[in-house]
Amino acid sequence: MSIFSKKNHPKREKDLIMTKDVPFSVEEAYKSLRTNLIFSLPEDKCKVIEITSSTQNEGKSVTAVNLAISLAKNGEKVILIDCDLRLSTVARKLKIKQKPGLTDLLFGLNSALDVICHHPSGIDVIPAGNIPPNPSETLGSSRMTTVLEFMKEHYDFVILDAPPVGIVTDAAVLAPKVSGIILVVRQGIARYEEVDAAINKLKLAHGNILGFVLTDAHIDAKNYTAREKKTFFSSLKDRI
Ligand SMILES: Nc1ncnc2c1ncn2[C@@H]1O[C@H](COP(=O)(O)OP(=O)(O)O)[C@@H](O)[C@H]1O
Ligand SMILES: [Mg+2]
Repeated sequence: MSIFSKKNHPKREKDLIMTKDVPFSVEEAYKSLRTNLIFSLPEDKCKVIEITSSTQNEGKSVTAVNLAISLAKNGEKVILIDCDLRLSTVARKLKIKQKPGLTDLLFGLNSALDVICHHPSGIDVIPAGNIPPNPSETLGSSRMTTVLEFMKEHYDFVILDAPPVGIVTDAAVLAPKVSGIILVVRQGIARYEEVDAAINKLKLAHGNILGFVLTDAHIDAKNYTAREKKTFFSSLKDRI
């Protein structure tokens, strides 16, 4: 869906979040992701987009935040919801309070008005909130469906920063509740088998995979076998 080169992320330890000045090439990359996303969606009233990956640390949260901001800059009314209840980072990345948040709303402890933060970047944000003992059940609950239905009434786009598909079922339980899924694949971290398994899991859960965002892309991908380079990264699109 979009390819960002390593030179766009010179300081790996610092997130390149579009709340501050980022290099022109980075802003352009997220703009082209926004355009590709808009073109890949049917003419729905509201679009609920899940951002996930096969493992942690592939760039899901940065992609979710920057895509949300990029959509808002285009005049869309956007809400970003941190659904990675095991490793939530949206609040930290956007420098807002972590609580109350999504879980507090789901458990009826707070109202939508209490948990929605109006961020200066132009997006609304719901942080993860207090971490429950059973994240998969919480995300898969009928209350989560109700919350998403409510958000659909009030926003043009609902962006979900989801957990990785990995071993637990958190990301897959969200799959049937959303309009489309973007799978973030980080070169050097994502293994062929893991991404393949993630695609299968999301498809089994009736998820609509819209496309891929390749992060930390570098041409001399030494961590991959010739087979992976040839058959996998060049043919991701054929898998959906
Ligand atoms: N497109 C990208 N290219 C290179 N590094 C990136 C990119 N997007 C995010 N990162 C970096 O990768 C790390 C993990 O990003 P994060 O979004 O928190 O991952 P995840 O949510 O998948 O765990 C962070 O240090 C972040 O700055
Ligand atoms: Mg994250």
